[in-house]
Amino acid sequence: MQKVVIMGAGFMGETHANGYKLIDNAKVVAVVDRVEEKAKKIAGMFDAKIYTDFDEMLSTEDFDLLDICTPTGTHPWLVKKAAEAKKNILCEKPLALSVEEADAMIEDVKKNGVKAMVGQVLRFWPEYVKVKEIVASGKYGKPLHAYCARLCVPPEWYEGKWGYAEENSGGAVLDLSIHDLDYLLWIFGKPSSLKAQGVYNPELAGLFHVVTGIEFENGGSGVAEGGWGFMGEFPFTMVLRILLEKAVIDWEFRAGKNIEQRDKVANVIIYEEGGKTYNLEAEQKDPYYLECQYFVDCLEKGLPIERATFEDGRKAVEIAIAARESAKGNKIIKF
Ligand SMILES: NC(=O)c1ccc[n+]([C@@H]2O[C@H](COP(=O)([O-])OP(=O)(O)OC[C@H]3O[C@@H](n4cnc5c(N)ncnc54)[C@H](O)[C@@H]3O)[C@@H](O)[C@H]2O)c1
Repeated sequence: MQKVVIMGAGFMGETHANGYKLIDNAKVVAVVDRVEEKAKKIAGMFDAKIYTDFDEMLSTEDFDLLDICTPTGTHPWLVKKAAEAKKNILCEKPLALSVEEADAMIEDVKKNGVKAMVGQVLRFWPEYVKVKEIVASGKYGKPLHAYCARLCVPPEWYEGKWGYAEENSGGAVLDLSIHDLDYLLWIFGKPSSLKAQGVYNPELAGLFHVVTGIEFENGGSGVAEGGWGFMGEFPFTMVLRILLEKAVIDWEFRAGKNIEQRDKVANVIIYEEGGKTYNLEAEQKDPYYLECQYFVDCLEKGLPIERATFEDGRKAVEIAIAARESAKGNKIIKF
């Protein structure tokens, strides 16, 4: 049984808590948030202890796994302290706000011999995983091009509006589009260059709508469009469209206003060369639950973490920062 502490009882803290509720071999023993009421709400789901200060929790509590769901700027110091205390770590994405910090976090984890995973949740999202498996199987030849999108209205839940400052969240490319950039890396491997363009508004953390075109070393290419500057009733929208040598895979998912209404069903459609069209079956399970379950299972069984490693998180940060630089400076970035 893994004893879990959830650090940060905001939007993601609650999302992960709902995942742990369904996991038999994990128990949330404490919740930390400097806003006591928020910690209380989640702790109440588990009869867990409440802390408002991380250091106090760390010096008092007996636990195995720290689940970091606080704003991105806190990730590096939390990882350092948790690793030094020999705790295993699940850290929300983006891993960090800079590549240097991400490198230091990888080092902290290695040096202390703990296991770590980053919350790049598309690597657990049933539709994205199924599509990745089909592409990797080679059944339809090589992937030639992929288009991914993640579009929404500005998130309203940030405690103290932390996400609306570029120095806190990195802006929409690092906070939002990073999911699709990470997915493109998962599909195509090493990037060779990218060029991005974006729209800027300091009140929405700088670049709030960014379109990034990436060339990969294997000859494939991809585009990630991400933005949180949509308006009115615009629903949370995800798009994944992959052109392969012998088929096209198409998924367009529209949730309600926020990603919490992610239980709607939209079929992934495969259009095969030759005219056959079919719907791809993907299990209808919550991706955040699947992510937490994977990490807990690896810890319980003593298995290495192979999906959404800190190294994957670091590569995603690197490419997102490059996209931001490219859009701001109107330049091509080569890797
Ligand atoms: N994987 C995803 O789909 C996804 C979605 C949204 C957010 N995120 C990421 O999750 C992280 C948290 O984002 P969120 O949307 O949950 O934010 P949030 O504002 O809803 O929650 C953050 C919580 O952390 C608490 N907090 C901040 N600093 C603290 C400290 N020093 N000590 C104790 N508590 C502290 C705040 O009071 C708040 O309750 C960010 O890194 C964000 O990028 C990931």
